[in-house]
Amino acid sequence: MNISIFGLGYVGAVSLACLARDGHRVTGVDVDESKLAQIAAGKTPVVEEGMIELMAQVAASGRVSVTTDARQALHSSEVSFICVGTPSAPNGSQDQSALLRLARELGAALRDKQAPHVFVFRSTVVPGTVEDVLRPVLEEASGKKDGVDFHVCFQPEFLREGSSIRDYDRPPFTIVGANAPAPVEALRKLFGHLPCELHATSIRAAETVKYCCNNFHALKITFANETARLCEALGVDPFAVMDLVCKDTQLNLSRAYLKPGFAFGGSCLPKDLRATLYLARTRDVELPMLGGILPSNRAHLDRAIQKVLASGKRKIGMIGLAFKSGTDDLRESPLVLLAEQLIGKGLSLLVYDPEVHLSNLLGANRRFIEQHVPHLGALLRHDLESVVAGSELLVVGLNDPTTLEGLKRHVRPEHIVLDLVNIADRAGVAGQYAGLSW
Ligand SMILES: NC(=O)c1ccc[n+]([C@@H]2O[C@H](COP(=O)([O-])OP(=O)(O)OC[C@H]3O[C@@H](n4cnc5c(N)ncnc54)[C@H](O)[C@@H]3O)[C@@H](O)[C@H]2O)c1
Repeated sequence: MNISIFGLGYVGAVSLACLARDGHRVTGVDVDESKLAQIAAGKTPVVEEGMIELMAQVAASGRVSVTTDARQALHSSEVSFICVGTPSAPNGSQDQSALLRLARELGAALRDKQAPHVFVFRSTVVPGTVEDVLRPVLEEASGKKDGVDFHVCFQPEFLREGSSIRDYDRPPFTIVGANAPAPVEALRKLFGHLPCELHATSIRAAETVKYCCNNFHALKITFANETARLCEALGVDPFAVMDLVCKDTQLNLSRAYLKPGFAFGGSCLPKDLRATLYLARTRDVELPMLGGILPSNRAHLDRAIQKVLASGKRKIGMIGLAFKSGTDDLRESPLVLLAEQLIGKGLSLLVYDPEVHLSNLLGANRRFIEQHVPHLGALLRHDLESVVAGSELLVVGLNDPTTLEGLKRHVRPEHIVLDLVNIADRAGVAGQYAGLSW
C-alpha cells in the first residue's frame, strides 16, 4: 500500500520504519528538515532499540521517501497517518495547534485529489476532536465530504518509548474508531497480521480508550508507589507485597471491579481504606491517591441522588438495598445511604430486596440500618410487583436473574428507571421504559 506519515517523532518514525519493513511504500513528512535528512540518509531520528538497523535496512529497500510537501505526500498515497505532537498547554489543555495547521494543509491538498483517501489520526487527542474539530477543517479546506470523498478514523497508538518496535509488532490490541467499513478494512490490511485482536468501534470511543489506558497506567504506577511508601514506613518489603498482589489474577489483575456501576460499599472496602489512611497519617505518609477514593465514591452516590431529584418524581421504588446482590449485608451499602438521602428530601420510598428480612438482621447489620433508615419495616415490601406498581421512578441496584425476570414482567413504559447496575441489556428490558442516563 502507498502510505504517507505526517510527523516523524517517536510514533511516526517507528511506524514509517515498520510499515516499510512490511513491504509498504511510505512517504514521511515533517516540518523539521533535519529529521527528513536523517531518514533519507538511512539514519533514525529517534533513539530506540533496533531503529538504527531497521532504518538503514528500509532506506536501502527504496520504499521510503521524505518530503516537506504535504500535497505531494497526500497525492502519492491512499492512506495518511497523522502523528504530530499534541503537548500540554500551560493551563493543562491539549495544544492542538500543530494538528489544526496540518489538517488545513491536508484539506487544501485533498481539493484536487480524485481517488478516495483515508486519514488515520494517531496523535492522542481529547475525545470529540476528530469528528468535531478536525473533520470540519478537512471538509471546509477540501470542499469534500467525509464518508463520501474521503474517510477519517482514529487508531490509538500503544507503543512505549524504549520498546516501540517490539510494541508495534505485539500491541495489546488494534483499535480502529471509524464511521464506515472502508477505513477499518484499510487498517486491517496493514495491521491484521499482528498477533492481537482488531476491534472496530466509534471514533469517540477509540479516542477515549487511549486516554483511559494512559490514565490506568498512571493509576497503577501511583498505586504501587503509594503502597511502597506505606510499606517503607511500616518496615514491610514493598516488593514482596506487590509481588503477591500481582499473583492474584482473579480479583486484582483481572476484569473484576472494572465494570462501571454504582458506588462501592459493604463491610470491608470503606472500613479498610479508612484504616489504611489513618495508619498512613500516624506515620506521616501522604497517600493522596488512596485518600481520593472515598470522596470519589461519595461523588458517585451524590450523582445518583441528584439524578433522582432532578427527575421531579416523588414516588421512588428501590430495587435492591444490600451492598451486593445475593446478600443481606446492609453495612455501608450505598443503596441504604441513597435511601436515607431520598427520604431526607421528602420523597416517598418503597423498597424491595429479596434477601433482606428485617427480622433476620442482626448485630452491626441491624445497627447500621437502624441508624440510617430506622423505619425500614414500613418501606420494605416482599413482592417486586407492588414496589413497581407503586412507584414512578425505579432505582435498580440488584442484578440477580429472578429480579431481572420480575422487572421484565412488571415495568411499564411510564416508569423512569435509574439503572445502577447495567441491567437493561441483560434483562432485555431496554426500551421498555424511560431510562435515566447513568
Ligand atoms: N511517544 C510515545 O510513546 C507515544 C505513544 C502513543 C501515542 N503518542 C502520541 O502520538 C503523538 C506523537 O507523539 P510523538 O512522541 O511521536 O511526538 P514528537 O513530538 O516526538 O513528534 C512529533 C513530530 O511532528 C512534527 N510536526 C509538527 N507539525 C507538523 C506538521 N504540520 N507536518 C508534519 N510534521 C509536523 C514535529 O516536527 C515532530 O517531529 C502525540 O499525540 C502523542 O501523545 C505518543
